Amino acid sequence: MTKTKVGLIGLGFIGRMHLATLRRGGLAELTAVADKEPENLAGRGAAGNLEVSGDTSLDGVATYASGEALLAEADVDAVIVAVPTYLHKDLAIAAIKAGKHVLCEKPLALSGEEGRAICEAIAGSDRAFMVGHCLRFWPAYMKAAEFVRQGTYGAVRHAHFIRTSPKPAWAWQGWLMDERLSGGAILDLHVHDVDFVNYLFGRPKSIEAVGVRNGKEGIEQANALYQYADGPVVTIEGGWGHPAPYPFRMGFRIVCEKATLVFESSVDMNLRVYDANGATEALDNCEGDGYAGEQAYFLDCIARGEAPTNGTAQSSTEALELVDWERAVIAERGI
Ligand SMILES: NC(=O)c1ccc[n+]([C@@H]2O[C@H](COP(=O)([O-])OP(=O)(O)OC[C@H]3O[C@@H](n4cnc5c(N)ncnc54)[C@H](O)[C@@H]3O)[C@@H](O)[C@H]2O)c1
Repeated sequence: MTKTKVGLIGLGFIGRMHLATLRRGGLAELTAVADKEPENLAGRGAAGNLEVSGDTSLDGVATYASGEALLAEADVDAVIVAVPTYLHKDLAIAAIKAGKHVLCEKPLALSGEEGRAICEAIAGSDRAFMVGHCLRFWPAYMKAAEFVRQGTYGAVRHAHFIRTSPKPAWAWQGWLMDERLSGGAILDLHVHDVDFVNYLFGRPKSIEAVGVRNGKEGIEQANALYQYADGPVVTIEGGWGHPAPYPFRMGFRIVCEKATLVFESSVDMNLRVYDANGATEALDNCEGDGYAGEQAYFLDCIARGEAPTNGTAQSSTEALELVDWERAVIAERGI
């Protein structure tokens, strides 16, 4: 079967992660890459808060000095948009208009309003459009979602999600440290868990939120509490205001009627099930990250000619609207 020809737009931290993942997966043919930095196109890209391992060579791949040039000239069926968030809207819409399938990195855009504009612009297109909300494909998160959806351990009573990091100093031209370009940690980092909570439980009845602002960098720490009418109470904590060498970590604790589900990346990648029946099980089939599954799903949707139903522009916009809601609550506190 002919492989989908993929172009990668943005070869910074997560672009290199996509590059290594594409090479490892072997499910697509990488034909083109674009980046503003000649250094990155020469294969000497920046690091991020997760290690990128594997083959990141660009032998035989056409290189372009911008995503716009790649869209105009490259031989690609699909693109992965991995540029700074403030550029997502224009590039993602341009890619769809150019007839490409699009996997756009999270967050889809800087606000719910921008997300809705993207939804409107791509409506009616027969191209696949997906947002890289990788937690939906991260093994321990997927397993927990399956248990919650199937009610394996009864209803969820309450849950906590956490994501903490040192400052992302790697960013191109420091864009992550400018709230106007990245939305600050409350968007860039915290949206991962906000989207996952929305995926599991939907829109809450009410939101309480507090935050720590750091000048023009925006809200660098957000602590939110989601109350559901007939469902759980969920707390979500995220921030990158941790002085180095504090390591990146993420995790959750989902308390069901008959078991507690725990994931803690600083321990290992397994999902632990503390079962009320007395058995404690560490599901050890949770190795790996979410990027491989996310890419595989995207490419499979293209091959089948079907629109992705996981990580849609619509659900990603809902996550942006929840972050907007948190921001509004924090702003009411004068922060
Ligand atoms: N899914 C995840 O786990 C995850 C992790 C990190 C970042 N992200 C998201 O990925 C996006 C990129 O983040 P990053 O950390 O890789 O940023 P980065 O600063 O490391 O890289 C961005 C790259 O985009 C390039 N670029 C800028 N404008 C361009 C253009 N017009 N055409 C082509 N290339 C261009 C820059 O040269 C730079 O190399 C952000 O939206 C971020 O939120 C997602």
